[in-house]
Amino acid sequence: MIREMLGMAEGILQDLHNDHNEVDALLDSIAECEDGAERGRLFQEMKTKLLAHSHAEQEVLYNKLEASPDEESRSFAHEGKNEHQLVEQQLTKMSSGYDRMSDQWSAELKVLHELVEHHVNEEETTGFSCARDDFETDELERMGQQFQSRKQQLMARVA
Ligand SMILES: [Fe+2]
Ligand SMILES: [Fe+2]
Repeated sequence: MIREMLGMAEGILQDLHNDHNEVDALLDSIAECEDGAERGRLFQEMKTKLLAHSHAEQEVLYNKLEASPDEESRSFAHEGKNEHQLVEQQLTKMSSGYDRMSDQWSAELKVLHELVEHHVNEEETTGFSCARDDFETDELERMGQQFQSRKQQLMARVA
């Protein structure tokens, strides 16, 4: 309760928050980078992290929220999964051949950043509060461990 009032995240919520910060920093670095090849490398790194994160998060957290007796949890999980799909479509679009320094690609990057930002805000407010209502602290801790090991497996697969 105190942790919640102080806005502190626990277990899987802390893990998710750390990843969100990491992806956000990578998105900023891509935007600031003025070398096409380096942009491509950073984009690949960010994409691998983001996809592994969202797939692991769906398996460990969203699937449980989707089965929750609480209506808000279920609707958050459905909406969040749709947003994951939008982000994934945008990543696929941006992975095609065109110049990473072009105005077009930079515009696509902006769209991606906005999609991710909106999604992360929802997740860290509504999603985290649903998770705190649905799960005890020790369960959130266990889910954190499951999330990390699942994410490592997925990173190895997509890399
Ligand atoms: Fe997330
Ligand atoms: Fe997410």
